[in-house]
Amino acid sequence: MSIVVPTFDEAPNLDPLLRALDAALSGIRWQVIFVDDDSPDGTWKIAKQLAATDPRVSCLRRVGRRGLAGAVIEGALASAAPFVAVIDADMQHDERLLPDMLAVLRGGSADIVIASRYLEAGPRIVAGLGARRQWGSRLANWLGRRALAVDLTDPVSGFFMVRRELIDGAAAKLSPTGFKVLFDIISSQPEPPRCVELPYEFRPRLAGRSKLDHGVVAHYLSMLASKLSRDVLSPRAVMFGLVGLTGVGVHLAILKATMPLGGFVDAQFIAAVAAMTSNYLINNAVTYRDRRKRGWALLTGYLRFCLLCAAGLAANLAVAALLQERLGIWWLSGLGGAAVGAVWNYVTTSLAVW
Ligand code: GDD
Ligand code: MN
Repeated sequence: MSIVVPTFDEAPNLDPLLRALDAALSGIRWQVIFVDDDSPDGTWKIAKQLAATDPRVSCLRRVGRRGLAGAVIEGALASAAPFVAVIDADMQHDERLLPDMLAVLRGGSADIVIASRYLEAGPRIVAGLGARRQWGSRLANWLGRRALAVDLTDPVSGFFMVRRELIDGAAAKLSPTGFKVLFDIISSQPEPPRCVELPYEFRPRLAGRSKLDHGVVAHYLSMLASKLSRDVLSPRAVMFGLVGLTGVGVHLAILKATMPLGGFVDAQFIAAVAAMTSNYLINNAVTYRDRRKRGWALLTGYLRFCLLCAAGLAANLAVAALLQERLGIWWLSGLGGAAVGAVWNYVTTSLAVW
């Protein structure tokens, strides 16, 4: 069995984890693959020190990239074992469950075994989560069950084991961003996989802090929306669209604030530039978080974004004018123009800015 452990700033946790795995897995042939995204705290150095003396340990250091899901996928693709487990580095997942999970897969009655925080917990508190995360996690799970149409208590668990073929077969379809890699593996199979859940108690994190932040939540929600659209819209397109809506809000707020200072047209211009700027910055921070621009590139990207959006506006006006001339239904012409402009902006900026 290969145990893939994605890591980002987890240096103090590796040694305790390795000891715990060693204690839990006697009699099983296993290896652990740490996949570290060049952590500032030097986690990969610790992992390679451990690997130097223990042949069961290896470490893949990825540079210039970030993402839990991508790290998990690449670790699994480095494995040649029949079974691949995924576990947090921070001791939140109970490694003593691994032999039971392996036994289920070996028995051949399942393709995926999921360690669930909620199978027996019921309304009880999950020890390792704060109050806000409790509700967030339950909501994320509920939404996930709806969108996936699966009957699992914890489809976004970060602790699971699969037959390796499932990842090998779906590798090209899996998204490297976000935290929902299990969800993604399940929904990318040609046939619905047979899943079994086993209960465990989620523990508090040993050292360091969680990397699950608002950006991760935003990604998850846009992925669900993408599934609901039956993959017509990509998660990024959904996010870009939502950011566009915030831009409308910014536009109207600035317009209202600046109108009294001068004429309407000046205010409209200022509002449009403000909305474009905030769209750019939010898209850079959230939609394209994995390719985020900084420093000089942030500025050149901004200039390109403005140029492309100006062209999008021209397309918007042209289409709206044409529709209005042909059909004469003002709201349909307006929406049609806006839709063409939005698609233009999304496609061209995704190609030429990010
Ligand atoms: N390589 C890499 N790159 N590893 C990462 C990254 C990244 O960008 N982000 C997080 N990790 C690693 C962490 O170091 C940790 O080992 C594991 O992935 C999970 O991240 P945590 O920051 O510990 O997440 P959590 O405990 O708050 O979230 C829990 O719930 C999620 C949703 O159910 C975990 O169980 C997650 O695995 C789970 O997806
Ligand atoms: Mn964790």
